[in-house]
Amino acid sequence: MSMGNRENWDSRLAFILAAIGSAVGLGNIWRFPYIAYKYGGGAFLIPYIIALLTAGIPILILEFSLGHKSAKAAPKAFGFFNKKFKWIGWWAVLIGMSIVIYYAVIMSWSLIYLGKSFNLAWGNATDSYFFNNLLHLSKTPSEIGGVVWPIFWGLIGIWIWIYFSIIKGVKSVGKVVYITVVFPWIILLILIVRGITLPGAMKGLSFLFTPNFAALKSPEVWINAYSQIFFSLSIGFGIMIAYASFLPKKSDIVNNAFLIGFANSATSLLASIAIFSTLGYLSVQRGVPVSKVVASGPGLAFVTYPAIINLFPFAKELFGILFFVMLLTLGIDSAFSLVEAFSSAALEKWKISRALMNFIIAVIAIILGILFSTRSGLYWLDIFDHYLSVYGLLIIGVLETLFVGYIVGPKKLRNYANERSDFTIGKWWDAMIKYLIPAALIIILIWNIRDEIVKPYGGYTRGALLIGMSILIVTFIVAIVFSISRARRIKD
Ligand code: PHE
Repeated sequence: MSMGNRENWDSRLAFILAAIGSAVGLGNIWRFPYIAYKYGGGAFLIPYIIALLTAGIPILILEFSLGHKSAKAAPKAFGFFNKKFKWIGWWAVLIGMSIVIYYAVIMSWSLIYLGKSFNLAWGNATDSYFFNNLLHLSKTPSEIGGVVWPIFWGLIGIWIWIYFSIIKGVKSVGKVVYITVVFPWIILLILIVRGITLPGAMKGLSFLFTPNFAALKSPEVWINAYSQIFFSLSIGFGIMIAYASFLPKKSDIVNNAFLIGFANSATSLLASIAIFSTLGYLSVQRGVPVSKVVASGPGLAFVTYPAIINLFPFAKELFGILFFVMLLTLGIDSAFSLVEAFSSAALEKWKISRALMNFIIAVIAIILGILFSTRSGLYWLDIFDHYLSVYGLLIIGVLETLFVGYIVGPKKLRNYANERSDFTIGKWWDAMIKYLIPAALIIILIWNIRDEIVKPYGGYTRGALLIGMSILIVTFIVAIVFSISRARRIKD
């Protein structure tokens, strides 16, 4: 992926697999199930599907076309159409870079669990194991309580792995994904077979699939549905722009977007079927309603998957190991795609070696990741995720669609996409990009901000939330500085 000499993906399949590899990640296995659980299971699915169709796939087409046409990473891709808007690209990759800081911490938990799988060290009380023995969770975000060392060492291990995975550039990305895309689906199917044959499984599944129309009145459900789609499809991060910039000239854009959109959501559903059937089982065992079985929040996956693994009739350790290896391999290609988007952008700006750039990124990310490795890390993770993944991505979504809608011209991009696609998109796409998506996102954003002023997110103190929110402002300022400083340094 050296400058001026953009390598191409080996084949169409390699690109699809790489894009799915970026999309499918902890977002499907860890994030989707807990968000769906937190916002009411079946209540969440309708907005989620609407979000996939009304924003996910159309924006995926937009990002693929932007990246492919400009053959640049995000900031320059925006700059390619209009120099004044590079900052949108920078902001997107900076938000992605901030997300990977805690994403790597979740991978570190997974790494620890992999080690624990060899003797199922989590025991039967998987809740208390996660919150007490692993996280040593403090009572409030302000009670930082010191670093939890195993998590911190795990974090370093994960960054070494990320570093070596991306160092070779896009060619190696194409190869790694063959393993990281197919293997997870097999493991998930095995977990599902175990899950749905447990007594009570149906209770959990009906919680997941029974729609609840009353919940559609809640702005939180909508904003989380849209942001889950953004997070999970890796859109709003500048990643799909960077990936598409490596596509060979004759690549199908529309087909790929639909395929990736559906394959990704299907993976989230598979993971949830495994999780919710187990929640049904636990609800029967514990005599509590499904909605109350475990604490809803980012810990769900780490409480529930070990519980499924405990319930395997044989070779539990083996399934445990396979599951956590899978989780890690899924996470790694997402993590390096996040770093990749930022580092390709940074390399177009600063001419240093790729290795040095990635090294600097890794060191900074480890230092900043310390906050999430403390005893209060889970709270901070939740707060930062709320501002970056929920607000940050949707704001980028608005900017991106307005940019294409009013600066680039959606028709131009649509014609470009259609020229290289088996089946084509119509004028409806222009209307979505110009009016429907930005309007819907703005309404959802305002509706939520209004609600949150009255009722602070997650019951956290306003001070803690302010710190979380400041990350959006900091990334925005840095984005502006980066885009301006570039224009002064090199005339292009
Ligand atoms: N889409 C990935 C996931 O679902 C996360 C991710 C986001 C990866 C953004 C890359 C970029 O886990």
